[in-house]
Amino acid sequence: MKGVVLAGGLGSRLHPLTKVTKKHLLPVYDRPMIYYPIQTLVNAGIDDIMIVTGGNSAGDFLKLLGNGKEFGLKHLNYTYQEGEGGIAEALGLVEHFADEGPVCVVLGDNIIEKDIKRAAEDYSRQDGGARILLKKVPDPQRFGVPEFDGETIVRIDEKPENPKSDYAVTGIYFYDQTVFDVIRGLEPSDRGELEITDVNNHYIDEGTLTWSELDGWWTDAGTFESLNLAAKLVAKKAN
Ligand code: DAU
Repeated sequence: MKGVVLAGGLGSRLHPLTKVTKKHLLPVYDRPMIYYPIQTLVNAGIDDIMIVTGGNSAGDFLKLLGNGKEFGLKHLNYTYQEGEGGIAEALGLVEHFADEGPVCVVLGDNIIEKDIKRAAEDYSRQDGGARILLKKVPDPQRFGVPEFDGETIVRIDEKPENPKSDYAVTGIYFYDQTVFDVIRGLEPSDRGELEITDVNNHYIDEGTLTWSELDGWWTDAGTFESLNLAAKLVAKKAN
């Protein structure tokens, strides 16, 4: 399975920190943010990885990461997203790289304590479709939130005012090769983006979306509060 780190978008919620650089290059404790999602993929045994970046500092990713030697990789692939058309738009850019195979996608600002090996194995045994990872959170309205009927997810709402559960859909997704057709069929949301939640709802409607709960802590790092929390969690784990 191939891996994708999505590090496009403009990170405007972190201004002025992101005025002259990209969110994913900011420090989270002792490493740049992008190191963590790359390590998540590598720890799951995925070593063919593409990074989607964008904005003004795209060249800095190449300077920082090179061919991925620090992660034990021989090579890293890069592509460029113009503007901020959404997570699903960024994912659509990797179709040629996926080459008809499944992909594991990690958002560039998602940081986890443990690993996703088991989820990757479970997905490999699954007959196509999609798999998402959930985590219980105190503030689900900040995220994609699943609605359940028993153990089955019947719908995901993006940043709902009245969340139907206290789970967040984390930014770690497994998709089969049909995801690119799904993305081609999407319409932009009210915020003008192609939403990954619409992709997941498509798989739900098709009856091919599975889920599991992520082990250990999980956080995004896209707001001042979560960036600060991420640094504290990573520091605690390291010391
Ligand atoms: O962190 C998990 C959450 O991520 C999910 O629960 C939500 O369902 C999902 O929509 C997303 O929500 P955010 O509002 O936090 O996403 P954000 O716009 O901050 O984008 C997250 C990462 O995705 C960002 O760090 C880089 C990548 N991205 C985002 C956009 C908008 C791109 O590569 N290109 C883009 O155009």
